[in-house]
Amino acid sequence: MIYLITGGAGFIGSNFLNHFVPKFPEHTFINIDNLTYAGNLKSLEKVENHQNYHFRQIDIANSEEIEQVFKEFQPDRVVHFAAESHVDRSITGPKKFIETNIIGTFNLLEMCRKYWSYFEDKLFHHVSTDEVFGTLGKDGFFTEKTPYSPNSPYSASKASSDHLVRAYYHTYDLPITITNCSNNYGPLQFPEKLIPLVIQNLLKGEIVPIYGKGENVRDWLYVIDHCEAIWTVIENGKRGETYNIGGNNERNNLEVVKSLCQVISNYTGEDVQKYLNLIIYVKDRPGHDYRYAIDPTKIQNELGWFPTETFDTGLHKTVKWYLENEQWLKSITKDEYQNWINKNYINR
Ligand code: NAD
Ligand code: DAU
Repeated sequence: MIYLITGGAGFIGSNFLNHFVPKFPEHTFINIDNLTYAGNLKSLEKVENHQNYHFRQIDIANSEEIEQVFKEFQPDRVVHFAAESHVDRSITGPKKFIETNIIGTFNLLEMCRKYWSYFEDKLFHHVSTDEVFGTLGKDGFFTEKTPYSPNSPYSASKASSDHLVRAYYHTYDLPITITNCSNNYGPLQFPEKLIPLVIQNLLKGEIVPIYGKGENVRDWLYVIDHCEAIWTVIENGKRGETYNIGGNNERNNLEVVKSLCQVISNYTGEDVQKYLNLIIYVKDRPGHDYRYAIDPTKIQNELGWFPTETFDTGLHKTVKWYLENEQWLKSITKDEYQNWINKNYINR
């Protein structure tokens, strides 16, 4: 099989490629990524010399470039990770989110429609988020039947792309699957997201900003568990269906940050209080969703996927990885990153 992976230089895409390229030498993996601030070829050093791996720097919003790749490689399956993914950036600058997440997805779907004969074993797998469902109160869970109710420009753009993917199945019989996953964490995550930002700041002795009161709840999943769930859906998921992915790991943000202080203190031998003193409370995110929580019953019962990491084991692995990969972190936190930190946090 020839797999076209979009956004494979980002956090989840690079974990996916590092995990599956060596595992499946019989498949070819083509990574297309335009290397935005979030895309980094250093994350793929493990697989860059594998014979079944190829990279092309391509913008999915550019239909001519996508067509070239379809002509050159004739992919059987598309696994679509590429996106603008950070909620705060979608608040300060939504346009890119529309271009990549909506137009980019549309371009890929159009190319599949043009180049695929559907009786073959083709598949467009769309990687999406639980944020399309909006926010939960104190109770309840997102299921595959929860109505869409996105609240940020990011989640609205992902919801639009989900609807396009679904429409191509119903209108054109394009074989598709969609997964909606909760918050991921693990190695290779860009330090704009809560967990890597906090790890980095604690290690550097810099302040740790918590939005609002730190009471918002997220449902955390270790990234390799997410990648395995995606592979399970690609292999065995029913075409035309969506699957929610989550590991029943709800924590509020303050709990997450305190756990990180403790794990880092265990590694460094420093007093945990030294880290706790770095926590500050800053102005809340506009439209901040209160709580996300996934009901993973469908993927568990129908496809037999279960997570393997607990939040404890996953956090330990993640902290250890960041401690051992200081160079990776340094290489991606230069000019653009500092501009973002100033824009989002200074005078907040
Ligand atoms: P990321 O921001 O780390 O990586 C995105 C990648 O896409 C980068 O390599 C970037 O260069 C690339 N990209 C962006 N615009 C592009 C364009 N126009 N053309 C080609 N490549 C482009 O994102 P991530 O956290 O790895 O998320 C991957 C996917 O998973 C996204 O679709 C996201 O919505 C979804 N998702 C993420 C999470 C999470 O917690 N991170 C949870 C659920 C779903
Ligand atoms: O739920 C899945 C989504 O999870 C993905 O679709 C998104 O791509 C991904 O970015 C993530 O979105 P969140 O907004 O939940 O993740 P983030 O790491 O930005 O924030 C997690 C929580 O921490 C959220 O409640 C906001 C809060 N936060 C975040 C940052 C960056 C802070 O309190 N302080 C911070 O500095």
